[in-house]
Amino acid sequence: MPLVNLRKVLDHAAENSYGVAAFNVNNMEQIQAIMEAAIETDSPVIVQASRGARSYSQDNYLKHLMLAAVELYPHIPIVMHQDHGNSPKTCISAMENGFTSVMMDGSLLEDAKTPADYDYNVKVTKEVVALAHARGVSVEGEIGCLGSLEHKEPAAHGSKPAEAHDADLEQEPEPEGAMSHLTDPEEAERFVADTKVDALAVAIGTSHGAYKFTRQPDGEILAMSVIEEIHRRLPNTHLVMHGSSSVPQELQDEIRKYGGKMNQTWGVPVEEIQRGIKHGVRKINIDTDNRMAMTGAIRKVMSMKPGEFDPRAYLKPAKEAMRKICQQRFEEFGAEGWAGKIKPLSTAKMAKRYESGELAIKIDKSLQPA
Ligand code: G3H
Ligand code: 13P
Ligand code: ZN
Repeated sequence: MPLVNLRKVLDHAAENSYGVAAFNVNNMEQIQAIMEAAIETDSPVIVQASRGARSYSQDNYLKHLMLAAVELYPHIPIVMHQDHGNSPKTCISAMENGFTSVMMDGSLLEDAKTPADYDYNVKVTKEVVALAHARGVSVEGEIGCLGSLEHKEPAAHGSKPAEAHDADLEQEPEPEGAMSHLTDPEEAERFVADTKVDALAVAIGTSHGAYKFTRQPDGEILAMSVIEEIHRRLPNTHLVMHGSSSVPQELQDEIRKYGGKMNQTWGVPVEEIQRGIKHGVRKINIDTDNRMAMTGAIRKVMSMKPGEFDPRAYLKPAKEAMRKICQQRFEEFGAEGWAGKIKPLSTAKMAKRYESGELAIKIDKSLQPA
C-alpha cells in the first residue's frame, strides 16, 4: 500500500485504545530498524523526519528509502511525517516530497526558538491545514511550548536543555515561571476548534534530548494531569507526546562503559506514556532512545574490535539495537497486531473525506467546566 495519512492510523488507534510510536529517521539503517520491528510485531508505522534530517538526507534519498520500505512491506501502513515544521513553506516542501503528514509547529516562531502568540500559531496552522487537507495530508499542531518544569524558560526546538545537569543544579527551579509554557487546556480546546488539526501536541514538561529530568519524574515535573484535563475537554482529539524517550538506564550505562560521556539523567517512564494512552495520547515521539541504542552499539564494536574498519561491522549491531527499542515500544504502547487491520485510504480519498466535513473534530461544549 502507498504511504498513508496519519489521521487514518490514529483514528484506528483511538478506536482500539492503543498508541503509535513515531520514530525519527535520518538514514537507511534507522528505516530498516523500524520496519523490521514493525514486521516482527505487525504494527502500524509513523516515520518522521525533522528539518535537520531532511537536509542531512537531501529529501530525495529519504523519499526513495521510504518508497523502498513501502515496496518491501506492502501490508504495513506507513505514515511519512514532517516533524516540527517551522513554517508553511517547510510543510509545503514536505508535501511536495511525498510526506503524507506534516507538523506545523506554530508554538514557536519560524526561528524555532522564540515562543509565538496564540494568533500567530492559529494563523500558520490554519494555513497549513487548508493546503494539506486539500491534498489528503494530515496535520499535527502544537499548543504550549515543550521544555522542562525544572527550568525557567521553554526549550527551543532541537536545543539540549540541560546538556549537563550540573549547571542546572546550581539554579533554583522556578515552578511558576516554568508552568506558564505548559498547554492551557482551555486554549487547547479553542485551538482545535480554530485550526481543525488532526492531532495536537501538548506541552507537559517534557523536552527533547537525553537531559529531560534531573531525577525520576513525578507529577511536579511531568504534568500528566494536564493531558487528562485536555482529554476530558477534547475526547475526540488525538494527543501527541513529544520528548517521550525513556532514556533507559542500561543505555546510559552502555554508552559510559564504552568510553562515552553522559551525565546521569532521567527520561519519561513508559508507565507514564501508558497512562497517557489511556487519556487520548495516540502518537508518541521517540528519537533519543534510538540514538542512544545505536551509539552504545557502535561504541561497543569500536572499543572491543579496534582493528575493525568495515562500516557494516558496527552499523549492523547499531540497527539491531534500534530494532529492539522500536519493538519494545510497539509492544508497550499496544500497537502490536494492528497493522493488518487498518484499511488505509489513498490521499485522494482522504482529501474527499476532509472536504465533505466528515473528519471534522466534534467539540462538545458541555464538557467545559461551568
Ligand atoms: O525533534 C527532535 C528530534 O529529536 C529531531 O532532532 O532536529 O536533531 O533532527 P533533530
Ligand atoms: P526525544 O528526544 O525524547 O526522543 O523526543 C523526540 C521528539 O519529540 C521528536 O519530535
Ligand atoms: Zn518533538
